[in-house]
Amino acid sequence: MENATRRHFFHHGQIGNEDEKESCHWCQLRSFPTHKTAPITVVNEIDNQTLPQNFRFINGVVLGAGVSAADLSFRSGCSCRQGEDCQYSGCLCLAELDQDETSDDTADDHDGSVAATGTPLTRKKAYAYHMHGSKSFLLRSKLHASKLPLYECHQGCACSSKCPNRVVERGRLVPLQIFRTQDRGWGVRTQESIKKGQFVDRYLGEVITSAEADRRRAASVISRRKDVYLFALDKFTDPQSLDARLKGPPLEVDGEFMSGPTRFINHSCDPNLRIFARVGDHADKHIHDLALFAIRDIQKGEELTFDYVDGASEDFEESGGRIEDMTRCLCGSSKCRRFLW
Ligand SMILES: C[S@@+](CC[C@H](N)C(=O)[O-])C[C@H]1O[C@@H](n2cnc3c(N)ncnc32)[C@H](O)[C@@H]1O
Ligand SMILES: [Zn+2]
Ligand SMILES: [Zn+2]
Ligand SMILES: [Zn+2]
Ligand SMILES: [Zn+2]
Ligand SMILES: [Zn+2]
Repeated sequence: MENATRRHFFHHGQIGNEDEKESCHWCQLRSFPTHKTAPITVVNEIDNQTLPQNFRFINGVVLGAGVSAADLSFRSGCSCRQGEDCQYSGCLCLAELDQDETSDDTADDHDGSVAATGTPLTRKKAYAYHMHGSKSFLLRSKLHASKLPLYECHQGCACSSKCPNRVVERGRLVPLQIFRTQDRGWGVRTQESIKKGQFVDRYLGEVITSAEADRRRAASVISRRKDVYLFALDKFTDPQSLDARLKGPPLEVDGEFMSGPTRFINHSCDPNLRIFARVGDHADKHIHDLALFAIRDIQKGEELTFDYVDGASEDFEESGGRIEDMTRCLCGSSKCRRFLW
């Protein structure tokens, strides 16, 4: 790290070295709009390794060949006049929520919003986040263990950017540090405490077609090694769908060569983060976000982890793989499933 930092100060800081800045991790991180409020730092107190040279930090997903966002004419948003309305089932952005799964859990809210706003008691709360008090913007507890998608308001909505249902859209607020672990390469730790239910960051990468993902898996010596960087955007995939983009096979996000800090988060069989599918404009379900939320309180300095297969308990020895090709999981938890792939 020392060398990379020195190089930056003596060369990359000079005006005119734009190409060098493009390929410098330090400059990439400094260019993030969140750099002042929630910086990403990189430290290595273990060995002389620097971050992979063929890796680039990005601040949003990059759409690969054959992948596109929906046409403007298919876009739609809610017409709520104030963000307060975007927590009730009348909001168009929440129209696809399953009412049974999302019925009100006021015992969980303690927010007093009904009396304060004069909102009729009959309106059902339907959105994903707490809105008032100390739990503001935290994922409601009902959702922690669920696999339900999160529907958020977005640029096409009439509500303002301050609408409480735009947690993922507003982006990461937590400063993170990429650090060299003793035994698992790089890892990520938080520089501030994180509350259970708090949004941490999105998993970013290149959004590629399923065919391209298969090509990349095949090009990797052990395809499961590549699998740890590939996440399928399959939350809305349905072979019966009338929308050709949702029939499948789903698009995949490859974070190996371009991503945000989340690409360096290690796996744990008993993690403190979990990935949720988040959709803004419903016309873009095929490229939904992968949003990482804390599923327990996390202390400042603690390493962040998520379960790469989200609890899918495959017995790796019986999965057909060869034991010598497998990577032992070093998560250290008492619930460890022994192999990473
Ligand atoms: C998505 S990357 C995470 C960042 C990685 N540690 C690095 O240095 O780039 C996944 C790789 O990290 C390592 N890794 C992550 N979690 C691990 C775990 N629980 N046990 C052993 N290795 C792990 C494996 O080498 C795996 O291929
Ligand atoms: Zn630089
Ligand atoms: Zn709304
Ligand atoms: Zn809204
Ligand atoms: Zn909306
Ligand atoms: Zn484990």
